[in-house]
Parts: sequence; C-alpha cells; structure tokens
Amino acid sequence: MLNSQGIKGPPYRFIHGNNKQVAELRREAVSKPLGLTNEIFPHVQPHMYSWINKYGKNYLCWDGVRAEIVVSDPESESARDGLVTVVGEKWVKQRKLANHVFHGESLKNMIPAVITSVETLVARWKGREGKEIEVFEEFKLMTSEVISRTAFGSSYLEGEKIFDMLNKLLELMVLNLFKTRIPFINKFWKPADLLESEKLAKEVQDIVLKIVKKREDKVENGEADGFGNDFLGLLVNAYHDPDEKNRLSLDDLVDECKTFYFGGQETVSSLLSWTVLLLAIHGDWQEKARREVIDTFGHQIPHPEGLAKLKTITMIIYETLRLYGPSAGLMRKAGRQVQLGNVDLPSDVDILVLNIATHHDPQIWGEDVHLFKPERFEEGIAKATNHNAGAFFPFGLGPRSCVGMNFATNEAKIALSMILQRYTFTLSPAYVHSPISFLTLKPQHGIQIILESLHDDS
Ligand code: HEM
Repeated sequence: MLNSQGIKGPPYRFIHGNNKQVAELRREAVSKPLGLTNEIFPHVQPHMYSWINKYGKNYLCWDGVRAEIVVSDPESESARDGLVTVVGEKWVKQRKLANHVFHGESLKNMIPAVITSVETLVARWKGREGKEIEVFEEFKLMTSEVISRTAFGSSYLEGEKIFDMLNKLLELMVLNLFKTRIPFINKFWKPADLLESEKLAKEVQDIVLKIVKKREDKVENGEADGFGNDFLGLLVNAYHDPDEKNRLSLDDLVDECKTFYFGGQETVSSLLSWTVLLLAIHGDWQEKARREVIDTFGHQIPHPEGLAKLKTITMIIYETLRLYGPSAGLMRKAGRQVQLGNVDLPSDVDILVLNIATHHDPQIWGEDVHLFKPERFEEGIAKATNHNAGAFFPFGLGPRSCVGMNFATNEAKIALSMILQRYTFTLSPAYVHSPISFLTLKPQHGIQIILESLHDDS
C-alpha cells in the first residue's frame, strides 16, 4: 500500500525485517572512531543516513515484522501535528500530573536540590586539578542525585537504591534493543535476561511500595499532615484521589517513577557532557559563557532571576542540542489513519520522526551546518530556523513534547554556571570522539577533560 504511494525503503526480510542489517551497520560504524567532527549522523545512525540518501527523507523500514515509517522532512510538519494529537485517556491523566509537577512554583523548589547535587560534584573534583576527569560518568552521578532529591525529597537515599535497579533494567533493555522478539514464542519461553528484568521490576515495585507505606503511616499517626510535596508526594496524593477517574493505580505510580528517571537522568547528563566537550574545544565560547556567569552571579550560587537572563549559555545549550541532541527521534503510533503529505498511512504503523537528520540538514542550516556556532541562536529559535517550527525540536513537538524541558534547561544552566565559576577546562589528548545512540546519545569512550582552578585556594 505504501510502496504504491511512493514511500520506498529497504526490502523486508523474513521475521527479522531490517534488524540484522541495522545491527551490522551500527557495529561497523562504532568500530571506527570518527575524528573530531560534528558531522555525526552517518556514524550514529548509519542505516538511517544511507536509507535517507537512497530512498528519500521519508522512508519505510521493518523493525522485525513491524513496519516503521521514518520521517525527516520538516515539510511534513503538519502531518506530525496530526500524529502527536492521537493520545489515550491514561496519557491525559499522567500528563496532567506531570504538568502539575513541572509548574512554575514547583520548578523553583527544585533549584536547591540541583544546587546541592552540583555542590557534591564540585566537592568531588577538589584536588583533581591538572588531572584527567571523565565527565560523562560524573554527570550521570550528578543527574541521578538531582532526580532522586527532587523525586523523593527526604527519602532520596532510598530513591537512589531504586534508581540503581532501574539502571540495571535499562542496561538489559539496551542489550535487547536490536534483538528480534517473536511475541507468540516469548509467551511460552522466556530467555534469562527477560526473567532477570522481571525480577528487578518486582524488586523496584516492592521498594516503592515500602516508601509509599511509610508516608501513609506518618499521615495516619498524625506525624505529618500530607504525603509530601516532592514528586512522590504528588503521586501518593493521586494514588489516594477520592475521584476514581483521576486515581493512579500502584502500577501507574511505579511507572511514573520510571518515566521520571529515564526521562530526566540520561538526557541531562548527555546534554551536559556534550556541552562541556564543545566548550573545552571552543575556548572562546567557554570564556564568553564564564564572563556572563560572573556578571550575573559573581561568585554566589545561581538564583532563578539570573538563570532566566543567561543569554549566551542558552545559545550554547541550543547549539549543543542541535548538534548532539540526546534523543534521536520521536516515536509515534498513528492510532487511526493519518495523512502524511500526499500519503495515507495505515492505522497500525509505527512512525519515527527523526530530529537528528533535520538538525544536521544543510538545506535547513546552511553549508556551515556541522560547525559549532551558537551565534545562530543570537536572536532566538524562530530566527535561527527561519520560522520553520519543524526544523529544531530537541524536546519534541506538540502536546506530547517534553514536560521536563524547563527543568532540564535550568539544571544544565545551574551546573554549567557553578563549574564555570570555579574552573577552566580543556580537552584531554586521550579523548576519542565516538558518539553512539543507545536510547540517548552517549560518548562511547567517555569525555576526558583537564581542569584548572580559577582560584588559588581550591
Ligand atoms: C536535555 C534534556 C531533555 C531532552 C533533550 C528531552 C527530550 C524529550 C523528548 C524528545 C521527548 C519526547 C517528546 C515527543 O515525543 O514529542 C521527551 C518526553 C518526556 N520527557 Fe524529556 N527531555 C529532557 C529532559 C527531561 C527531564 C529532566 C524530565 C523529567 C525530570 C523529562 C521528562 C519527560 C517526560 C515525562 C516525557 C514524556 C512526555 C509525554 O509523553 O507526555 N525530560 N523528552
């Protein structure tokens, strides 16, 4: 049906679809380092890069037996709006809750949690001046602490235990990403890794249940007059909602904790790592950013009014998100028949809207598309993209777009400000450039930098 309408793609292979070819191309790409360039698309998604060149910006491929339409043409933007509005009732409930959590006032309350976590980070760096530091692992620890503190408040140490397990779950998921699962057979026979993930998921559920119970007991005994105003507190409130329509089940509650963690931890550590890489290479931008931070905060901790005024840092973050955006694409299900340009898509097809292709497209950004030039965003996103809303969307599009966007940018601004106030940094000669996409965009061999303290006493 799609072929006859002009959507082409690699041929379907029995059961595996295109998965074997994808795995092979990806293996081949990551076996060779890249050289220090921002032209990362062919390295990160070699199959998508070659299929776009061969079949066009919108093409059809096969994830096992499932058909997937890949969309990377910003002209198809109106169709994307059609896609993103197809949402279920459960999503509406969760989204309401998430919007509540990320509302302005709650957002301000998160700032102290972020500052405390960055203080832990820079305290760990004391005495390591002149030595190599691998920042990707460092930022993972930091963003984990941030999420744990904002999600679980006073219970944040228990939160860290949960996240430890979620991390193991994530590793298992990543290992299985390109394995073809055959639904019918998996009903009767479960491989060891599937059993392991089910066991982990059960343990996560048990610990969350224990924390929830503790909070309920405190309210019952009169030790507290509410379930708490951190993320977990809001979830427990919703779990007790007298209105059945708004009430969360325990499974939903655990799911929300997972989404918050997966959504909020890997993405921000990825963004911070690539920003530090680019600033280590581009010392002039590092210096401009530092000047702005000192002009705004002096040597004090960052405050909300100042964060809103950081223009240079915002431009740097946008340009990093363009070149090294953590998410490669947005997954959508049509849910009903949808029109994409001139093409009718069947209702059950998976759709992947590829932002990495759009963000690296010279037809949109010009011949200097692969250069780090934060000045593109000097006059805002609309000007940088020529008012083409479909050209730059690191946080997604439409009603399903990232709820954590303001939280993430504030966290990144705070971390960068507090680092720039204390250190200058350069890239270590040991660094090997190889961005890879495993759920988020990661540096395959880490990012090694060398710090110099700006103050004699630290
Ligand atoms: C640089 C950091 C981040 C980036 C680049 C990012 C990007 C994205 C993208 C591309 C989506 C999918 C949007 C779509 O399908 O249209 C998404 C969804 C989501 N993000 Fe983020 N995100 C970031 C940080 C965060 C943080 C810090 C949190 C929470 C603490 C978070 C929570 C979520 C949630 C809950 C969703 C699902 C929204 C829904 O389905 O309604 N994200 N994010």
